Order: sequence, then structure tokens, then C-alpha cells
Amino acid sequence: MSDRNTPRSHAKPACRATLSRRTLRWYQPVLVVAIATFGVLAYAQDTAAPRTATTTTAAIASANALATEAGFETLAQGGNAVDAAIAVATSLSVVQPEASGLGGGFLALIHDAATGKDTFIDAREMAPQAVREADYRKADGTPNRDTSLHGPLAAGIPGMPAGLAYMAGKYGKVPLAVSLRPAIRLADKGFHPSSPLVRSIGREAEVLRRYPASAGKFFPGGKAPQTTDIFRDPGQAATLKAIAERGADGFYKGAVAKELVRAVKASGGTWTLADLASYQAKERSPIELTYAGYKIVTAPPPSSGGVALAEMLNILAPIDLKSMDEAHRIHYLVEAMRRAFRDHNEYLGDPDFVKMPLDMLLSPYYADGLRQSILPEQATKSAWLPSVHAKDPGMHTTHYSIIDKDGNMVSMTATVNTTLGSGFVAGKTGVLLNNEMDDFALVSGQPNAFGLIGGSANAPVGGKRMLSSMTPSFVIGKDRLAVIGSPGGSTIITQVFEGILAFIDGKNAGEITAQKRIHHQFMPDRVDIESGSDIPADVLAKLKAMGYEINDKDSWGNMNVVVWDKTTNVKSAASDPRNPNGLGKVETIH
Ligand code: DON
Repeated sequence: MSDRNTPRSHAKPACRATLSRRTLRWYQPVLVVAIATFGVLAYAQDTAAPRTATTTTAAIASANALATEAGFETLAQGGNAVDAAIAVATSLSVVQPEASGLGGGFLALIHDAATGKDTFIDAREMAPQAVREADYRKADGTPNRDTSLHGPLAAGIPGMPAGLAYMAGKYGKVPLAVSLRPAIRLADKGFHPSSPLVRSIGREAEVLRRYPASAGKFFPGGKAPQTTDIFRDPGQAATLKAIAERGADGFYKGAVAKELVRAVKASGGTWTLADLASYQAKERSPIELTYAGYKIVTAPPPSSGGVALAEMLNILAPIDLKSMDEAHRIHYLVEAMRRAFRDHNEYLGDPDFVKMPLDMLLSPYYADGLRQSILPEQATKSAWLPSVHAKDPGMHTTHYSIIDKDGNMVSMTATVNTTLGSGFVAGKTGVLLNNEMDDFALVSGQPNAFGLIGGSANAPVGGKRMLSSMTPSFVIGKDRLAVIGSPGGSTIITQVFEGILAFIDGKNAGEITAQKRIHHQFMPDRVDIESGSDIPADVLAKLKAMGYEINDKDSWGNMNVVVWDKTTNVKSAASDPRNPNGLGKVETIH
């Protein structure tokens, strides 16, 4: 992953979080009470700050301390893990808009402790009815990266507000008016923007300045905000209040919907009121499989993540990875990744629009065949298997993992796609729209921002959801379980895969988030190895001798994991140490 969005904070000197006197006075007792009474929070603050916290009550791991606290505040109001997830999601929409928000979508797994049921909420964006592939092509037929990534044509109809309202109504305990309270307060009163937000605004300045409402929101008073400034978002506060009062209708119908459509149309987009009114969050059955005695519960289509994860784990199931030297272990992991991504590109899309051979893809017998094709001492060339090409992405998204005191669990990944989505804020709504249309195969055979290539299964059609790599998952063993997920575009799938293997190997939450990552996605045909990886030179040499192209890649991901040891009832929440400084700046404005 390029360093566009994933700062190398772990390589930088620690930047200490500071508390202003005023904030400290107000804040410290509340934070202590929250931790003592309701559980723990984990957030990455700086290289010196703790990133793992333990509790026997409730645990939340998110990418931003203010959002984590919002989750605890909602638990304190009588909410459960689902309500806490709603508070985290809406607070992140305010404080981490570069990664997710009301103008985007999410995929979430929910575990209901009372019934033991696991379910999946699909709040993925969908294409507007008037979508036209020609809008994403230049006159010479080549992809138009500007329309697919910037401005309103890049935006799918948002799923987040509908998904949150659905979750609250069916699985939550408190009304949206309670779970949205922290986000409304943050938007109204303001907060100190994190350094990643400040950097993201700087990086996307040219696009943001194209649109008056985006410039107004992200350059208050005409100036780029600094981490010491107070950043307010009155437009989004008003939209959040409309949702708090009227649920999904507060966004998809009435004044907010009219303003969304007006603003989108005025800047060349095609959304209609009917597109908004027809959006529905969908509840689907998760994918389940077993690996090494653990039950894995994960995301079904329109995510490709769960299918790919199942293929990789099924391929590896009979292989004794522990007895292998490191080069061969990596070899088998990479070959499993290669084969899963080939199928990802080929078959997967919105289950309501395409027929997918899921029985085949999820079958251990299919995996047996794929395993047979792995050469024990040599890299398979992707070109020997049918397919296509790719390039480096720039990206952003966010994942949170929550377990409440009753054992309800939420694993939720939310996104506006790349950093600050389309860069387009829709008029007075304050809502920053996603650029998720780029996750469709807009021009068949051409890579998207993550180098993923698709065909007809993921072609854009009005009302269809674009394929996602988001892979919120649960890993459930006899004595231990993990709630896991990450941002990272196509690398989400391999990060979760490696995280699951680490958990099954006995690693703790902090170790899982910190471990160095490898990635292969079929095309480009190369193994990405995270910069600073501790893989020894002789292992890399062996891999090269097997035929692998090794690519040193800047750090990627922002994983947030909760591990629950049932033998001790200890829950450990850990945030990714790659998560940069600034996030944990525990300050808020009241
Ligand atoms: O749904 C997807 O697969 C992408 N829109 C996710 C983007 C992402 O993870 C960017 N991350 N850092």
C-alpha cells in the first residue's frame, strides 16, 4: 500500500498525547470511570502509548479514541454492543471522515449472546439507477480515473444510515437519539483533528477545493485545519440530528434527501430521490467454516472477503504449516492467496444480481483441487492461471471490534473507499460522499484503485452493490475467541487471514495487530512484504529462488481486534501499532 494513507508512524519518534488543563479537568474522571465501570478502550496513540487494554466487562477497539469513548458512553446509557457500534460508527463519521461515514457504507457481523445467533448486516452502497459505464471512460475508451474516484459520479447511494437504523431497530437496546448523541456533540462542539485527518485534507486539497461545500467543511475560514484547531461540522450535526429523530427516513427522505440530490445533480451526478428512497440495508447469513478446530464466522457477498478466506483456509486445512521452514510456510500462504484472488476477480459480485458458484468455492473438495496445483518447491505463475493486471492503491477505511459485558459482539468494517472518498460534500448536509463506484469493474479487465480486476459479475448496474473486500470476522474456539477485521482494500482479506492464523497459533490481541504482513492478490504477480518485516534474508532468498517476485511495501492496515479468553473471562482490546499518532489525543471540547 502506498504511504498516501497509511503513515509510517511506527518508524517515527513518539509524539506524546497532551491534555489541555481544561480538558484534563473535565475529562480525566470520566475516562477513569468509563474504564472502571464499563470496560476498556484500546486505541493507538503514539509509539509509546499502550495499544492493548484488558477487562472482564466490555471491550472496544477502534481507530480513534473519541469514537471508542463514544461507544463506552452508549454502553453506560444502557446500550449493548450493537448500540456501541452505532455510536462508534457515527463518531468516526465526524472525527475520522477520511475513512468512513454517513456518506459511505459498512458490513457488520453481529453475535447475539441471548440466542447464540450470528448475523450479517449489508449496508454496502449501491449504484444509482442512471449509472452509465460511459461516464467512467475517456473518449479513447481508457478508464477515467477522475470520474471513478472524485466528485458525485464516483459515489454510490450510501448505506450507512440505513444500516445503522436497521441494527438499532432489530438488535439494539437504546434509540438512535441516545447512540447518536456523542457524534452529534462532537460535530456541534468540535474536536481537535487527528494528524491523519490533517494529512488527508492536505493530500486531497485539490479535489476538496473543487467543490464549495467540501472546501467549506474541510478548510474552515479558507485554511487547512491543524491538530491544535477546533474542528466543527455543523452540517453533519444537523444531518445526524435528522437521523436521530426520524431514523433512516431522516436521511433517505425529506429535507436531507432533497439536499443530497440537489447537490449531486448540480455537480454532474445522477442520483434521484427514488434512488435514495429505495435503498435498503439487508440482513444476510454469514459464511461459516471450521479451521483447526475453530469456527470462523465471516462476511458473505457482496463482500469477497469471506469467500476468499474460506478458500485460503480450506486449501491450507490439511497442511501442517508448523512443521515447515519459514520460506515454505510463506510459499503455501501465498499460493493459497493467489488462488483465492483469482476466483475473487472471476466470480464474485452482488448476490442479488449475479449467480455465483458459492457451493463450489466454499467446498473443501474444490480446495483439494486447488491445493493439488501448488508446486511444493516453486511459485505458480499467475499467468498460468487465467487472468489480468493491477497497480498500487491509495486508500482508507476503518474497522471496529466490540464485545459487551453480556457477550454480544460486533465486528464492523465501514468505508468511504479511498481517503476522504469522492472529496464531494453534498451541499448543506455536511455529508462527505464515498467513491465506492470504483469498487465496481467499471471498465472490464482494468484494475481499480486496489489493483483488483473484475468482469461481468461485478459490472455496474443500477441498484447493484459493488463487490467489497471488507471481511469483518469472528474466530470462535473452545476457550478463546477473537473479533477481527481491518481496512486495507484488497489487503483486508489477507490481513484478516494472517490475523486468524496468528490467533489460532495462540498470539494475543496486541501481537495479532502488530505482526508484519504479506500479501498476494493474483495480479500483480508478486508477493508484497511489509517494510521492516523480520523475515530473514535467507528466507527471502529461498522465496526468490522458488520464483517469487518480492516487493517491499510500506506498512498497511489499521487492524482493531478484541480477544476474549473464556477461561479467565479476560477481554483484550488492541489497536494496530501502525495507527498513527494523533488518534489517541484524548481531548474533547465541551
Ligand atoms: O469495500 C472495499 O473493499 C473497499 N472500498 C475498501 C477500501 C479500503 O479498505 C481502503 N483502506 N484502507
